[in-house]
Amino acid sequence: MSALLGVNIDHVATLRQARYARNATSINVEPDPVEAALAAERGGAVGITAHLRQDRRHVVDRDIFRLKESIATKLNLEMGNSPEIVAIALKVLPADVCLVPESREEVTTEGGLDCITHRATLESTLQAMSDAGIRVSLFIDPEPAQIAAAALLRTPVVELHTGAYAEASGTARDAELARLVKAARLASDSGIQVNAGHGLNYGNVAPILSLPKLVELNIGHSIVSRAVFVGLEQATREMVALLQ
Ligand code: PXP
Repeated sequence: MSALLGVNIDHVATLRQARYARNATSINVEPDPVEAALAAERGGAVGITAHLRQDRRHVVDRDIFRLKESIATKLNLEMGNSPEIVAIALKVLPADVCLVPESREEVTTEGGLDCITHRATLESTLQAMSDAGIRVSLFIDPEPAQIAAAALLRTPVVELHTGAYAEASGTARDAELARLVKAARLASDSGIQVNAGHGLNYGNVAPILSLPKLVELNIGHSIVSRAVFVGLEQATREMVALLQ
């Protein structure tokens, strides 16, 4: 039981924006999310994830274009399903996009997409991405109804939301893990690739490897946090070792 690692570099950009959001042309701007992506690749990441939010609170448009040009692995663009961001994705042409719900107030992505309510708009975005050769992943809660809706949309990939698992402890965590296992089985039985992510860290990731047919985990905050102490290449290497 192993999984591949995609490293989310958003919070490298968060650190940059904390100082330079209003002074982006300063000669002192740092740290560079592209340099971070290259370090994560040296540490064994098979992909780089970045979330272009509507409010551009961390990664900005230029980062996405530079990442696409600079990285040797694949770019996974996380994004809300809004016409503006869809148009940018169709210009950047990342290998993957992961569609997430997005509201301006949330600190991070709080829940999965509702593929039932938003079926029509998701369907047209899936079609546009697929026509452009971009593989879509739908970020959803581990609920059978959402897996069924994702299958109806014929998405090639789902990313199961591990946030509730990560926040739980004791028997509640066991129950969340069981939900994820069941959802992963349903998705893979429907021919959908199973990825997972959100809230995973060095201490809670091991049980997630029991998800059937799990392919890729996307992890950001914990790896960037560890990188403060050991560097991003080493922090990535340590997570890759846990996933093997
Ligand atoms: N996957 C998705 C869809 C996310 O929205 C996020 C957070 O940006 C992550 C993975 C990474 O989460 P974390 O930073 O908690 O590892």
